[in-house]
Amino acid sequence: MDPGDLVLRGGRVFDPAAPRPLDQVADVKIANGRIVEIGRGLVGGRMIDVRDLWVVPGLIDLHVHLREPGQEYKEDIETGTRAAAAGGFTQICCMPNTKPVNDQKSVTQLILLRARQAGIVRVRPIGAITQGLEGKALADIAEMKEAGIVAISDDGRPVMNAGLMRRAFEYARTFDLPVVQHAEDLDLSEGGAMNEGAVSTRIGIRAQPACAESAMVARDLEIVEWTGARYHVAHVSTARTVALIRDAKRRGLNVTCEVTPHHLALTDEACSHYDTRAKVMPPLRTTADQEALLEGLVDGTIDCIATDHAPHSPVEKDVEFECAAPGMLGLETALPIILDFVRMGTLDDKRAIAALTGGPARAFGLPGGGLTVGAVADICVIDPERPYTVGGSGGDALKSKSHNTPFLGQTLAGRAVLTLLDGRPVHDLDGRFR
Ligand code: DOR
Repeated sequence: MDPGDLVLRGGRVFDPAAPRPLDQVADVKIANGRIVEIGRGLVGGRMIDVRDLWVVPGLIDLHVHLREPGQEYKEDIETGTRAAAAGGFTQICCMPNTKPVNDQKSVTQLILLRARQAGIVRVRPIGAITQGLEGKALADIAEMKEAGIVAISDDGRPVMNAGLMRRAFEYARTFDLPVVQHAEDLDLSEGGAMNEGAVSTRIGIRAQPACAESAMVARDLEIVEWTGARYHVAHVSTARTVALIRDAKRRGLNVTCEVTPHHLALTDEACSHYDTRAKVMPPLRTTADQEALLEGLVDGTIDCIATDHAPHSPVEKDVEFECAAPGMLGLETALPIILDFVRMGTLDDKRAIAALTGGPARAFGLPGGGLTVGAVADICVIDPERPYTVGGSGGDALKSKSHNTPFLGQTLAGRAVLTLLDGRPVHDLDGRFR
């Protein structure tokens, strides 16, 4: 479909992460896939009324598991990117723990090809740090970089060998690639299925201590200081990790990090009835951790919100808690969960949107994430109060192939009602383009 000449009329045009932050009621005119004008009284071939809605940059998610190639029964690039568009995202980074692992250019190329064929949102692959995610030898980072990766990570597993991590930092630095660590010291976590604390003791589940995460981050920061690399901590979950990153930033290290909506919204109490949908890695923590994560997000220690969208089928989830695969869906619930903090007054709307747009773009150096004249028209239109029953009927049905979210059936509020990629609708909840 030709994007044509289009005006989004009368919305709250909102780009808090821009160098000159934008927040005004205005029209946005789009032509040939780009924003050509922002102002009042604009006219175009097609007028779309977005009064009382927020018009923000397309959301960006640095942490998604698309499961293709290899585990298409959980998700594939088409369904995963459709879920992304429904959640308001226009750009997502996908983790390399596919089958085969994205540790070589042929896999990177395949992912990019499939994403182009689906044509729903921009997919930026993350390459593996080590071959097969085995933590033994570096993957072919140079050829993957040439093929289009935007970062490297062994996500799902940490790089336990400190010497190898040093080499990864040094190598990645020559390509200016961020190294994304799944921070978990396996000698401390010992396969624990949830957070170690009062709840794990009460329900008798083998658990892992918070220091399994922070000990790994502390180690990595020493190596980052030595090598001068770009370091990004995935899914930060503990108060101690937030404190370490705050201090590292103060010292001027090149460090960024992300928090997931589920670590902000839930605690290990969600596991107390052995609900495997609440099993994630890193595990849900305590109220004190939750408070520290929110504080870190508010003061900018935490750069961005990333979903860790991790689809699993009943085969992996309808089993005993300790045997269940970790992970929950995130793309379609991130926005309403985060908007809940805005409604409660614990997070302001500017910080929330910045952490979903310009924040992640800057952390990985991605294009997009802004609403400026001349920019590509990747746009998310949000109704901040729209009720949304997760996995409900009609427009509330999940686009993801999987249903593993503890929010299933809950009614949240706030949704992307329209997502534009290059000015073209890739999600249109109310049929404004029909
Ligand atoms: O909960 C998680 N699920 N954490 C990870 O690090 C990996 C992910 C997955 O791939 O399912």
